[in-house]
Amino acid sequence: MSDVSRRLFMQAAGISAVAAGIHAAPARAAAQNEVGIKVIASGNGAEATRKAYEMIQAGEDPLDAVVAGVAIVEDDPLDTSVGYGGLPNERGIVELDAAVMHGPTHKAGSVASLQNIRHPAQVALQVLRRTDHVLLVGAGALDFARAHGFQEENLLTDHARKIWLKWKETMSEKDDWLPDPNEDPGVAQFFHEHSIALTDSLARRFRRPTGTIHCSAINAKGDISCTTTTSGLAFKIPGRVGDSPIIGAGLYADNTVGSCGSTGRGEANLQNLSSFAGVELMRNGASPEEAGMEVLRRIVKTTEPRLKDKEGRPDFGLSFYLISKDGRYAGVTLWGPEKYAISDANGTRLEDCKYLYRKP
Ligand code: GLY
Repeated sequence: MSDVSRRLFMQAAGISAVAAGIHAAPARAAAQNEVGIKVIASGNGAEATRKAYEMIQAGEDPLDAVVAGVAIVEDDPLDTSVGYGGLPNERGIVELDAAVMHGPTHKAGSVASLQNIRHPAQVALQVLRRTDHVLLVGAGALDFARAHGFQEENLLTDHARKIWLKWKETMSEKDDWLPDPNEDPGVAQFFHEHSIALTDSLARRFRRPTGTIHCSAINAKGDISCTTTTSGLAFKIPGRVGDSPIIGAGLYADNTVGSCGSTGRGEANLQNLSSFAGVELMRNGASPEEAGMEVLRRIVKTTEPRLKDKEGRPDFGLSFYLISKDGRYAGVTLWGPEKYAISDANGTRLEDCKYLYRKP
């Protein structure tokens, strides 16, 4: 039994940590104290954390700050996992998911399968502020975005279109789509970078990207907010919704405890409500790192054999980013080494995620 599981078991059995001689610092202990501003994000979010940190320092609400921060990545045509330039669904259409959660009011807003709008996190923020709902999808989400003045545009860049086309042309030798004999070197490079070495042979296999950006922030008063925004699983079945817009799966914040958000295989988080679990583990005394690692271990246990390698390890990527009310933070991942971004009084930098397994 892990330390965290043991602690939770003892709580359920009415055995106090003090009686057992274990020092479990409650996440709420520092609630009344001033904590420094901290902003964390997935490894693609260093500029997002820098922007959000500066805005919080200038007195902005952490939720406005993280939404403005991730807009930098939503705008970036080179990030193929988020917003403009994101990889499309199997029909070549970019469909975006995003959510926001505001700790002080415990309100949330989200959009799923949104087409043609490059800043879905901003639309999610309007869902939170200007509706009595939490989640809008597809055509309804687009109508809502238009009503709030968001401009429609084609989000499929030439780079993303060529990557999609190669995927389509190389899926099967039994259909009529033939690969380009003069392949774009940028596309070849992309497929190389997203291939995983199989542990039981030297073969490599293309792993469909599930990149995303999550960004969480805490201000000096201890108020917490977060957002997750993504183009989702590359080449997904149209209409597929991942974890990012689902509160409790791709992100969760409780202003009395902390926040947790995720990047990677969304289906694993939908099946385990992982971000909610991460926050609940912190509520019960786990540090951000312990909580994130415990969620990963639970996911390993519930992963179906089809998605595991010969050694029983999930063959997909999954990461969590956690902040606790007292300002502690962590990034954890199934497969390391992997980095996450942090901005605090010491500046903006990438730090190492704690990981369960080392990449082969
Ligand atoms: N975590 C992003 C997705 O699976 O859609």
